[in-house]
Amino acid sequence: MTKLPLGLSAAVLVFGWVLAALPVHAAEAAAGSDVFKSECAECHSIREGRNKKGPSLFGIVGRKAATLPDYSYSDALRGRNDWVWTPEKLRSYLSQPARQADPGTKMKYDGLTDAKDLDDLISYLGTLH
Ligand code: HEC
Repeated sequence: MTKLPLGLSAAVLVFGWVLAALPVHAAEAAAGSDVFKSECAECHSIREGRNKKGPSLFGIVGRKAATLPDYSYSDALRGRNDWVWTPEKLRSYLSQPARQADPGTKMKYDGLTDAKDLDDLISYLGTLH
């Protein structure tokens, strides 16, 4: 076996790791886009500034709750001024009926119980910026 110089072996290792890691994320986000289309697109657009029944989800990950100036939120969600849509917050919010996660909300959604669909969806939401 030929011995590679240390720097080169490290580069090969890192490159291999990047190659291995990238398609997984891309695949998750692609699957998440399908989950979005079947579960959320009826009420939500991913285009900036485009509200449907629900507010635009452009840039949702990291956004504070109820902060789009051109969308008329319920008093319930407007009152959640300590909520930030982190991946963890989205996970707990979307895994149960919205009326239970946020009593008084006008989002009529029964929750996504499939853990993989939820992971994929949240990866996808993270790409919307
Ligand atoms: C039947 C329509 C409907 C469906 C389906 C729906 N939503 Fe909503 N969503 C709403 C409405 C209406 C609001 C505004 C809630 C309020 O003001 O109380 C909302 C609010 C939200 C918010 C808060 C946004 C903000 O600006 O604070 C997030 C996040 C969200 N929805 C994510 C989702 C995701 C992800 C899905 C799919 C898994 C989904 N929703 C499915 C109608 C829907």
